[in-house]
Amino acid sequence: MGINNNIFLIIISFFFLGNCNNPKNDTKMKSNNKVSLTKSFYGTTKDNKNIDLYSFKNSNGMEVEIINYGGIITSLKVPDKKGEIKDVVLGYNKLEDYINDSSYFGSIVGRYGDRIAKGKFNLNGNEYTLVTNNGENHLHGGNIGFDKVVWKAKTKIDSNSSSLILKYLSKDMEEGYPGNLDTTVIYKITNDNSIEIIYQAETDKTTIVNLTQHSYFNLSGDFSKSILDHEVQINADHFLPVNKSLIPIGDKSNVSMTAFDFRNFKKIGKDINANDLQLNYGNGYNHCWVLNDYEKGYRLIASAYHNDSGRLMEVFSDQPGLQFYTGNFLDGSLPQKKEGFYNFRSGFCLETEHFPNSPNQPEFPSVTLNPDEKYYSKTSYKFKIKE
Ligand code: GLA
Repeated sequence: MGINNNIFLIIISFFFLGNCNNPKNDTKMKSNNKVSLTKSFYGTTKDNKNIDLYSFKNSNGMEVEIINYGGIITSLKVPDKKGEIKDVVLGYNKLEDYINDSSYFGSIVGRYGDRIAKGKFNLNGNEYTLVTNNGENHLHGGNIGFDKVVWKAKTKIDSNSSSLILKYLSKDMEEGYPGNLDTTVIYKITNDNSIEIIYQAETDKTTIVNLTQHSYFNLSGDFSKSILDHEVQINADHFLPVNKSLIPIGDKSNVSMTAFDFRNFKKIGKDINANDLQLNYGNGYNHCWVLNDYEKGYRLIASAYHNDSGRLMEVFSDQPGLQFYTGNFLDGSLPQKKEGFYNFRSGFCLETEHFPNSPNQPEFPSVTLNPDEKYYSKTSYKFKIKE
């Protein structure tokens, strides 16, 4: 089933409501218009559930498309320095490909983003065993994680932004996790070219939660190109070295004098092929950085810049960790949206999260959620142009 925009288009906001012709507002970034939001039929799942596509367009050239299957961002278009608007996230052109996908293109990841060693953990004296779907480990919520479920969707239009509110009730013991987890993810598209993501959850039994977003970016807007020419900066003095199966081995390591030093902007390709055991294990970067200033909460944590296009992406988050993954498992077998296939390292992910295997590593910040608590986390991806 493909996209069928024309037939099912429902306009749920007024595109030009506001003062778009008022010269006073004609500054570099227009900020006084509504962000248009339309809903259209996208496809049907195998068990006959209808999936919709939510299309956002703001007044500064940003267009975002999200489906309520997996909360997947299927397209994210932003201008380059010449004003050319291009898609900068990897994805497919039909629902079926997302259903069969195991790369987590554009999706919400939960209940636990990243790995849990052997899928086992203890909570209040009870041992839990999760689905193991990554060798002997649990990865990204299991076989049917939050990327593979249908979310209930609502929309909200505000003066300078529009939001998609997604809800999913993950049942007690789903994929092995205790507690009914009532989950909400809000995508807010703003007029200043940012996507804010708010994650919220409540449980009726003590459980663990670590939600993230798995978009693969290629800021060139040309998916036939590798991302090795992008420059990345991460506000982290340390990263977490891993074992062969990508579980942190314990202590954090200083990035100084290593290939993992992204404290200043550095091309992804500069050190990625260095002779380094950690890079061998990840087949490139596939590690969690220990972000600075966790105690400050929501802050700028990382940036990515593509010089040729001038596109700059800033990442803000309240999370302690950032999994920087350089598309090392892409191997030319997955189809692009138009034509061609995704080659090795044609996209990179900046997944904001708690550290991998936190339930088994008590020195890491806690991922436990109790029934009387509310899980809340916020991350934004903001797009700019830097000449
Ligand atoms: C994460 C993991 C990677 C890989 C990708 C999906 O980023 O860290 O090892 O599983 O997801 O392919």
